[in-house]
Amino acid sequence: MGRPRVRDDIALRAGYHSPQVDVAIRLNTNEAPESPPAGFEQRVVEAVTSLDWNRYPERRAMPLRTAIADRYGRAADEVFVANGSNEVLQTLMLTFGGPGRTAAVFEPTYALHSHISRTTSTSVVEGRRTDDLRLDLDEVQRVVETAGPDVIFLCSPNNPSGLLDPPDTVERVLEMIADTDALLVVDEAYGQFAPTSAVPLIDDDLPLVVSRTFSKTWSLAALRLGYLLAPAWIVDELFGVVLPYHLDALKQAAGVAALGFGDEMDRRVATVVEERGRLIARLADLPVTTWDSEASFFLFRADAVDGDELWKRLVDRSVLVRNCATWPGLDGCLRVTIGTREENDAFLAALVDALDQPTG
Ligand SMILES: Cc1ncc(COP(=O)(O)O)c(C=O)c1O
Repeated sequence: MGRPRVRDDIALRAGYHSPQVDVAIRLNTNEAPESPPAGFEQRVVEAVTSLDWNRYPERRAMPLRTAIADRYGRAADEVFVANGSNEVLQTLMLTFGGPGRTAAVFEPTYALHSHISRTTSTSVVEGRRTDDLRLDLDEVQRVVETAGPDVIFLCSPNNPSGLLDPPDTVERVLEMIADTDALLVVDEAYGQFAPTSAVPLIDDDLPLVVSRTFSKTWSLAALRLGYLLAPAWIVDELFGVVLPYHLDALKQAAGVAALGFGDEMDRRVATVVEERGRLIARLADLPVTTWDSEASFFLFRADAVDGDELWKRLVDRSVLVRNCATWPGLDGCLRVTIGTREENDAFLAALVDALDQPTG
């Protein structure tokens, strides 16, 4: 019997994975350093015992969307929710991308933007960032004029650089696409760690959506919950495309429960931001170059040690960071997630030691 053939356009595509290595300190996937507050678990237990398990969940997840909307002073119908912001982005591309359509990305950036575009049969046009990894508005203009993309991805703070786009960037790109049918997607997975956001710009008359996640700020990467803020008509279209009952009842309840701990989460974000400042300041004394991050991680490159080699030396010292050394435009770079103070100290000690070792 023949083997069913995988779709030709995705057959050879490698998935997106960060290697899982058995080490003491894991700072490679930008998760929150701490578990959610203890009270959160209690509320989830209460939800488990009071759910109507035999019933399908609330299809449009109204209580969860209302709770998210309240945090932003927006309306619930301006919020879409899905299983992680990756699924939010996938739903967007199923709705606004697809065969015959094009998405623009500006590399290096979050790999899933182009990956999801391609798996939804959307063509991808890759613009470049500057050598120091900043978004170049002339390049955006060039891509808009030459490729006429249907969807444009920005990512601010960008992964993997951690760089935040200047505050007027979104408005400028919206001006560039004013006479087109393009949609501007701003991925703010790390938005809570940054001082500015595109959320206040969202307006019924603008083709702008902003995606965010519970994976980073809310200590809930395991839950797989992400959302998007957008004009209500866009949210409505997304609900027409996503599978019925895509978000299970327990996840919806857990999301609402998490939002009850907003003050605690804000304190944790502040701690991560403080630790980020401490680490970057400390690295300024070492023979490495670091990028100014507004996210929960930062990128760095050793001046005199090969990136792959440094990554291995850190693993030998039981510290796992993300090895971006061979990614296009990121020659020799490593990306480290901000952990707990103890984890960060362990990373610093390992790095100092690893840099000090003579290159063999
Ligand atoms: C920029 C960016 N967007 C989206 C995501 C996906 O997050 P989620 O866990 O909500 O799918 C990540 C995760 O690392 C990310 O870095």
